[in-house]
Amino acid sequence: MSAEIRADLVVVGAGVAGLTAALTAAEAGLRVVVLNKGRSWRPEEREQSTSTFYAQGGIAVVLPDDPGDSVALHVQDTVTAGAGLTAAGPTEQIVAGGWPAVRRLVDWGARFDTGADGRYLRTREGGHSVRRIIHAGGDATGAQVQAALGAAVARAQITVLDEARATAVVTAPDGAAVGVSYADAAGDGVVRAPTVLLAAGGVGHLYAATTNPAGATGDGIALALEAGAAVADLEFVQFHPTMLYVPGARGRRTLVSEALRGEGGRLVDADGHSVTRGVHPLGDLAPRDVVARAVTAAMERTGAPCVYLDAGAIDDFENRFPTVLAGVRAAGVRIDDGRLPVVPGAHYLCGGVVTDAHGRTGVAGLLAAGEVARTGLHGANRLASNSLLEGLVMGWRAAEIAVARRSVPVPAAPAEVPAERPAAERGVLQDLMSARVALRRDADGLAAVVKVLDAAPGRPQRERPDTEDAALTLTARAVVAAASAREESRGCHFRSDHPNPAGSAVSQPFVLRDGMVVP
Ligand code: SIN
Repeated sequence: MSAEIRADLVVVGAGVAGLTAALTAAEAGLRVVVLNKGRSWRPEEREQSTSTFYAQGGIAVVLPDDPGDSVALHVQDTVTAGAGLTAAGPTEQIVAGGWPAVRRLVDWGARFDTGADGRYLRTREGGHSVRRIIHAGGDATGAQVQAALGAAVARAQITVLDEARATAVVTAPDGAAVGVSYADAAGDGVVRAPTVLLAAGGVGHLYAATTNPAGATGDGIALALEAGAAVADLEFVQFHPTMLYVPGARGRRTLVSEALRGEGGRLVDADGHSVTRGVHPLGDLAPRDVVARAVTAAMERTGAPCVYLDAGAIDDFENRFPTVLAGVRAAGVRIDDGRLPVVPGAHYLCGGVVTDAHGRTGVAGLLAAGEVARTGLHGANRLASNSLLEGLVMGWRAAEIAVARRSVPVPAAPAEVPAERPAAERGVLQDLMSARVALRRDADGLAAVVKVLDAAPGRPQRERPDTEDAALTLTARAVVAAASAREESRGCHFRSDHPNPAGSAVSQPFVLRDGMVVP
């Protein structure tokens, strides 16, 4: 190891959960190190590294001056979207923690859009019964949240290692997490700390096209499994109903925010008919899993490769949705008659590393927060704009645990990184996952993916793509194991060979044993 750093908290990831935790812990006097795989808070970077940056719609939060909304109503909408798997206690705590967390974000410098009366403007998205989503810069909420957090981190006493990829969680002989090994341009290093927070985001690049940034490769899921933590609800990969359709394009694609529908946009098929008519009482603003399936059905019905978001009725579209417009222009897509071509795209992992309502996993000293974690808030289908909310609240709560653990001794455990890990060829894996483990799954398709995963050769862990491909391979194992075990359809998980929900909903944890992900 060329570098060895001592800290009170080491955070893997630099999105909303990771930076909120880092700032909260630093304010309490902790020495904090953040490992950032990209260079996310430099606004001039063209490709940003966190999903937070790309969030458009906003933050779902109950404002204290809104007589038409309440924590109970927000919880109810979250539970309804979650299709029977939402955990009541954590959900209430996270939703109730929203407004205090947003106020702290404002103290750190974030600004949200306001109306002439100075009150926050609110939009509506799928599954919400009222307008409760605050936003910034129209549809640039995530970019502004990321910039505010990044600027606050730069002002604080926080060590940030940019372009540093975490290679393993360091564990003591008793199994506790006591640090993270990493690799960056200067070589290998280790950060030793009594608390490790995984805030490494999602898994969108399991699929050929996704709304996620390039670094969303399941790193946190893989690190947690290898450290002995359990994961759950990984079968619930949420497909956003409206990702920009760009023929033949792979990788990250522009999101067409649900807020367009909240502001009057309509989903129509290639023949001009409503996509969701008769499908759900909330129409185009039904929960995401419902709309994504309706979009797929419309594409099958018409034989067209996409449907359209008709933005004709949206007031002042250019100023309200500058991020969408910029993404459409950058992709060279034409907007004919106010209609944007869209398809469902891999967007968000509802499950993740199992934690309690403070981010604690089953491994002492190992916490998880944000998209990588499974708190039980999202159940089988996340409610729109609950993710920035969760990242803010859980980042804060995880930091409180780190503060309480600051004087836990850190034994000098060896920082061992496996020389090789199984790694499937990325394009092959993505195509197979897209064809067999996307919006529709069945036993044959899942078995076909297992075959490819079983044949994945060991690969030396030299460069970032090696680590990412290994993380994708292990994460795919976990997603496929969970999707195979759930012989029913629920929320984001649709099994064509088991099209109905089973009587009772349970969430099953999975762990890594002898290279296999097992219940
Ligand atoms: C959107 O703006 O549609 C995305 C919001 C989210 O994924 O929560």
